[in-house]
Amino acid sequence: MYILTYRVCFGGIRLKILSAKDYSEMSSIAAEIIANIVKEKPDAVLGLATGNTPIGMYKKLIEMYKAGEVDFSKVKTVNLDEYVGLGADDQNSYRAYMNKNLFSGINIDINNTNVPNGLAADIEAECKRYEDVIKRLGSQDIQVLGIGVNGHIGFNEPSITFNKGTHVVELTDSTIGVNSKIFKNLAAGAKAITMGIKNIMNAKQILLIADGDSKKDILRKALYGEITPNVPASVLQLHPNVTVVEACGLGIK
Ligand code: PGA
Repeated sequence: MYILTYRVCFGGIRLKILSAKDYSEMSSIAAEIIANIVKEKPDAVLGLATGNTPIGMYKKLIEMYKAGEVDFSKVKTVNLDEYVGLGADDQNSYRAYMNKNLFSGINIDINNTNVPNGLAADIEAECKRYEDVIKRLGSQDIQVLGIGVNGHIGFNEPSITFNKGTHVVELTDSTIGVNSKIFKNLAAGAKAITMGIKNIMNAKQILLIADGDSKKDILRKALYGEITPNVPASVLQLHPNVTVVEACGLGIK
């Protein structure tokens, strides 16, 4: 059983925090939230995230699809980010991650899935194209987020302004350090295209998932600390519909 806490923020905004007992429970709760949106609105726009945290959630969604509980045939998706220089054929790309961990296991039309093209010859033009894709889809019915140990959401690293759309980022040493477990060649993981905070905040609902001790301090800062671009996730205190599902031990203070 999870623990439910409300964090009342400035202006009376309430962040809903579900503290799960472990990663499996976190994944089930998060998958249930997404499935319910799709059941209610079959052509929902899902904003999706990559990383280690959502893998269990995607597995549960695939199980629900296979059990006939949810139909993704009309769903559209838009992902947060992609590494510059990596395409679908590279297993480290986020496009490959999405195909492997979710899209190949459900009945989504792959043409309705969107990830920035890391191989675009003109990266600035790609940012503009992706911004247009997001605009055309309309607001995400839900945007899934992980959180970096430095507080980043998407690849919006500390000190990025809150006012940006899709843009290119140079990743911080902290993020490159985490990614270096994946990339032998560091240059390959040094730049990314990311949705901006503006695109994220435009979602109707936000689902932030976080797991493990390493995320506990930054999650507490993001939810209870000062709202500052130095902790990009702290901006979520200004969004009217945020659900945090965490297995970092935050509920057990
Ligand atoms: P993780 O990444 O899920 O692999 O911890 C989260 C993030 O950096 O946004």
